[in-house]
Amino acid sequence: MANVKFHSGEKVPLEMHKVRIVQKLELLPIEKRLEAIAEAGNNTFLLKNRDVFMDMLTDSGVNAMSDKQQAAMMASDDSYAGSETFYRLEDKLKNLFGMDYILPAHQGRACENIISQTLINPGQIVPMNYHFTTTKSHIVINGGTVEELIIDEGLETTSTCSFKGNMNIDKLENLIRLNGSENIAFVRMEAGTNLIGGQPFALANLKEIKEVCRKNNILLILDASLLQDNLYFIKTKEEEYKEKSIREITREIADQCDIIYFSARKLGSARGGGICIRSEHIFNGMREFVTLYEGFLTYGGMSVREMEAMTVGLEETMDMEVINQGPQFIEFMVDELIKKNVPVITPAGGLGCHVNAMDFVDHIPQNEYPAGALASAYYLVSGVRGMERGTMSEQRNPDGSELFANMELLRLAMPRRVFTMSQVKYAVDRLAWLYENREMIGGLRFTEEPKILRFFFGRLVPVSDWQQKLVEKFRKDFGDSL
Ligand SMILES: Cc1ncc(COP(=O)(O)O)c(C=O)c1O
Repeated sequence: MANVKFHSGEKVPLEMHKVRIVQKLELLPIEKRLEAIAEAGNNTFLLKNRDVFMDMLTDSGVNAMSDKQQAAMMASDDSYAGSETFYRLEDKLKNLFGMDYILPAHQGRACENIISQTLINPGQIVPMNYHFTTTKSHIVINGGTVEELIIDEGLETTSTCSFKGNMNIDKLENLIRLNGSENIAFVRMEAGTNLIGGQPFALANLKEIKEVCRKNNILLILDASLLQDNLYFIKTKEEEYKEKSIREITREIADQCDIIYFSARKLGSARGGGICIRSEHIFNGMREFVTLYEGFLTYGGMSVREMEAMTVGLEETMDMEVINQGPQFIEFMVDELIKKNVPVITPAGGLGCHVNAMDFVDHIPQNEYPAGALASAYYLVSGVRGMERGTMSEQRNPDGSELFANMELLRLAMPRRVFTMSQVKYAVDRLAWLYENREMIGGLRFTEEPKILRFFFGRLVPVSDWQQKLVEKFRKDFGDSL
């Protein structure tokens, strides 16, 4: 995909696949979208998919499968115990990561539950580049605490740093020195760091972390859910690995780790999850949790069809022309938005395009949820559904005051191989129009506010009639266009 130059000089990612199954989409008129977002309590999680044109909420479980994945699903071996399908998946994971022990689980957070229950003693610390929501919850429930040791550039909204997901090695060494290695449960690195904009780590950084872990006898665990994007960035941006194949880079990453776990809703473009383990002793400790929470050891809560799709999807992840589609579409979208002065997180990462709401709607105070208001306004003017990643996604402090997020982001996920170029251009066009009219966007306030994970199903209303005014301006500028 990357290696095709256009005579015009334009930089356009060219898809190396064709579409053979399609799903019809609906684009409602803006007046109907106003009704839909009001009914959803201005929370994009509560929109019905039938009211959504482009679903950019997440890349989880919504990536397009290949014809080979679909074909494999037909040949699955349906059995509770000893399914041939599982052994095919097990072989593939052993072959890719070189670890001897494999446990299946129904999705990524299930792996986190099993790992945390097995390896964390109350009071222990888990250093990591950055947390993911479900990871942190499982660590905390099991009595652990999270220490984020991301490099400073990781939290800068605009940067030229290619590996914003790197861990600060000095901070890691200091933390171990101060607390003693016996108080560190394990070190966790997350590929394609989700909550800071899908930003990768460098393999050189992972090797340094491994060295610190080896010296201090601490386990290194990789969350490989977003590994495919990270592999792309290592191959294209880390000089030392330019000539290596994706398969070789994958193995070199795995060689640094003691345990690798993943959500197959992302890695492998299917649905499910798995834990790959180097030590037999740790495997024996974990496997009873699989039978307790997930299912038997040869399916772990997954359907055999999904396991077949995952096996093929994991192999397809070794193909640069498969894994480059996501990051290149995201880079295209980010570049187009920059041309139109829309504030976005740079450099473009994996997972999706992240709009900086703190700058986009800098007139909205954080207690009126700028990123949530932007997500609502963007759905209204485009039918595109994104996700709030800001203060709404935080939990209030114990005294009831707001915990303001470091970043206020509107995340526009790019499910892999799902959207066409003209759809991406449409998403850019509507966002650019909204940016020109940004002063019209107002804040939101909660009418129903759950105590835990309020962003999932909390309901809000606009603080004024700004949405009606935005609809009027849209009609004035676009006439009777959808
Ligand atoms: C980095 C990371 N880890 C873990 C998970 C949890 O995976 P799942 O949604 O399959 O439970 C996700 C999901 O988005 C993720 O991005």
